[in-house]
Amino acid sequence: MSESGQDQPQKINLERRRFLTTLTSVVGGVGAACAAVPFIGSWLPSARAQAMGAPIEVDISKLELGQQLTIEWRGQPIWIIYRTPESLNKLPKLNDLLRDPNSTEEQQPSYAKNSYRSIKDQYLVLVGLCTHLGCVPTYRPDIGGVEPNWPGGFFCPCHGSKFDLAGRVYKGVPAPINLLVPPYQFISDTLLLIGQDEKAV
Ligand code: FES
Repeated sequence: MSESGQDQPQKINLERRRFLTTLTSVVGGVGAACAAVPFIGSWLPSARAQAMGAPIEVDISKLELGQQLTIEWRGQPIWIIYRTPESLNKLPKLNDLLRDPNSTEEQQPSYAKNSYRSIKDQYLVLVGLCTHLGCVPTYRPDIGGVEPNWPGGFFCPCHGSKFDLAGRVYKGVPAPINLLVPPYQFISDTLLLIGQDEKAV
């Protein structure tokens, strides 16, 4: 992998293609690198709505504890992660290791500017693009999986950026800011609307 500016676009394109080919996957929880995926059909918007970048409904009723669901909105991967109580408990303890632990950068809507960067503590919603050069990081909830003291989070294989399970970036990595939280809201306990702010309805 070259870090010269010359072939980086190609690298990012490859990453993006990889995202598009694995778009409907749900990656399993702790200890499962790539779980078999129950098909979740009801979240797909119409082709026309998708093309226009309209808000899309996402049914999360089948999402299990620790799992990640990836959908596409406006050509970007959107992640929804059902965080475990254990992973939520770890987040405040990581603050000293993070570049922007209190989310002072405008990387999230106001309703997600809190300790967990989310509307509901257990459900994290993020744009799945690295804030360094736009690769798609991998979901790594496995304890000790990326490095010995790894508490679970997201790892970008392009240049080694690391994020916690709130999408907050670690110090000392190339990515400069936290992962982006898109506009979203809960229509019900199990139905999300991605692309429209909570207060807009
Ligand atoms: S794109 Fe460079 S670390 Fe993610």
